[in-house]
Amino acid sequence: MEIKHFETLMQTLKSVSDNLVQNLPIKKLSTFVEEVQQPNPVWKPLQIGSHIAKTPIVQGGMGVGVSLHSLASAVANAGGIGVIAANGIGLIEKDYYKDGLEAGLRAFRKEIRKARELSDGIIGVNIMVALKDFHQMLNVAIEEKVDIVFMGAGLPIKNIPVKELRSNDISVVPIVSSSRAANLIFKMWGKIYKDVPDAVVFEGPNAGGHLGFEVDQLDKKEYQNETIVPEIVETLKPYESEYKKNIPLIAGGGIYSGSDIKRMLDLGASGVQMATRFVATDECDADIKFKEAYVNCKKEDIGLIKSPVGMPGRAIRNKFIVDCENGKRPSFKCAWQCLATCKAQDANYCISIALNNARKGNLESGYVFCGTNAWRIKEIVSVKNLVNELNRGYLLALNKSIDTKLDDMIAQVKELWNRLQIEERASKVLEMKYETVLREISGKSKKNARKDLEVALTRVRDIQLQLVETVTGTWKLVNCTIN
Ligand SMILES: Cc1cc2nc3c(=O)[nH]c(=O)nc-3n(C[C@H](O)[C@H](O)[C@H](O)COP(=O)(O)O)c2cc1C
Repeated sequence: MEIKHFETLMQTLKSVSDNLVQNLPIKKLSTFVEEVQQPNPVWKPLQIGSHIAKTPIVQGGMGVGVSLHSLASAVANAGGIGVIAANGIGLIEKDYYKDGLEAGLRAFRKEIRKARELSDGIIGVNIMVALKDFHQMLNVAIEEKVDIVFMGAGLPIKNIPVKELRSNDISVVPIVSSSRAANLIFKMWGKIYKDVPDAVVFEGPNAGGHLGFEVDQLDKKEYQNETIVPEIVETLKPYESEYKKNIPLIAGGGIYSGSDIKRMLDLGASGVQMATRFVATDECDADIKFKEAYVNCKKEDIGLIKSPVGMPGRAIRNKFIVDCENGKRPSFKCAWQCLATCKAQDANYCISIALNNARKGNLESGYVFCGTNAWRIKEIVSVKNLVNELNRGYLLALNKSIDTKLDDMIAQVKELWNRLQIEERASKVLEMKYETVLREISGKSKKNARKDLEVALTRVRDIQLQLVETVTGTWKLVNCTIN
C-alpha cells in the first residue's frame, strides 16, 4: 500500500478516535479507546521464560566458529537473541589436537564471557545433543549463566539438569523437525521432570547445515513450515494450559525477508530463527571469504551433501564436496570423536575440519553450509542494518495485508460516525419535545414521548458501542495486535 494512502486513513481514524474519547458518555469506554491507540512496536517482542527480546529473531547457532561472541553480541544488541554454537568450538584454540575436549570447553566459556562483556542483551547457546561433550558443555553454560540453551540434533530428554537450569533462570529450547518430536520431548519432560521446556524451534526443510529430514521429504508439502508450524502450535496448547505458561514456537529455515517473518508469525509462530542472513554481516565470526561465498553463489550452486554424521546437509557445493563424493580422501587427524554418530571414514573426510577450513577462508579444503536463500544475498551489511531492513520489510508486508481491510473498516467507522450525528440530533429534538410535553400535557402523550426519547437514546448508545468496537478493532489491526 502507498504510504500516503495509509497516512490519510490513519488521520481519519485518529480524528474519529479523538472525538470519541472526548464525547463518549461512558468514561471507561473513552479510556479504552485511548489505550488502544498507544503505538505498539512494529513487531511483538518474543518472550522465552523470563527473557524478553524486543526483536523476535533468534540468530541460529552456527557451529565450528561461525557464530561466536562477535555475532551473538551484535544480534543481542539489536534486540534479538544472539547464539554461540558449542560444536567444533575447540577448533578455534591452538591446542585442539592436544586435548580436543578441554580446548572446546575453554573456548566455549571464553566466548560466552566475551559476548556478555559486549552486550546486556539476551545471549543463548546452541548445544547439539549428539555431541560427545554435551553434558560438559551444558555445565559450562550453566556456570556462565547464559540466558537460553537451544538443544538440537537429537532429543533433549534424558539427564537434563532441569533443577540447575531453573535455579539459574536459564530457559531451555529444543530444536525439532516435527510436531511428533516436540510432543515426545514435552510428554517425557512432564513425566521425568514435572516441567516442560520454555519454547520450541522448528527448523524447516529450507534451513542451512544439517537437516532433520530425509532427502525425499525436503520438497513435500507436508514437511514445509506452512504445514508444520500450525501443527506444532496446536501440539503445544495442552502443555501451555497444563503448565500455565506461554510456550512460543520459533520457526526457521529459509527465512530471508521481513515478509517471510510476517508469514511465519501469521502461521502462529511467535518469532523466527535465522542463520544464513546473519552470515553475510560484518560481525559474523567467519572469515570474509566465507561471507563472500554467500554473496557470490548462484541459486544452482546450493545443494545437498551426505554428511559424515549420517544426515543430509545443505551447502554451497564445490570441488571439495564433489572430490570427496568421488572417493578422494583428504588426510585428517581425528583429535577425538566429537560426534557420537560420526562416520568420517565412510564419508572420506572430517566434517569439523572441513567446516573449520572454510570458516578460516580456506574453501579449497572445505565448504560452506547455507540455507536455500543464500543466493539472494548481494552484500555484507551490519547486523543493525540487517535487523532494520527486516523490520521495514515486516511493516511494509503488514501494511499491504491490511490495505483493503483497513479501507473497509475506516469506511464503516465513517458511516457509523455519520449515523451517530443524525441519531444524536434526532434524540435532541425528542428530548426537547419530551420536556415540552412534560410541562404542558400529562398522561398518555407524556408516556409516549418518553418512550420515543428512550428508543432514540438507546439507538445512540448502540451506535456509540458499535463505533467503539469498530474503532478499537481498526487500531488493533493497525497495531498488529490481531492474532
Ligand atoms: C553455516 C551454518 C552453520 C550451522 N550450524 C549449526 C549448528 O552448529 N547447530 C545447529 O543446531 N544448527 C546449525 N545451523 C542451522 C541454523 O542454526 C538455522 O537453524 C538454520 O540455518 C536456519 O535456516 P536459514 O539459514 O535459512 O536461516 C547452521 C546453519 C548454517 C548456515
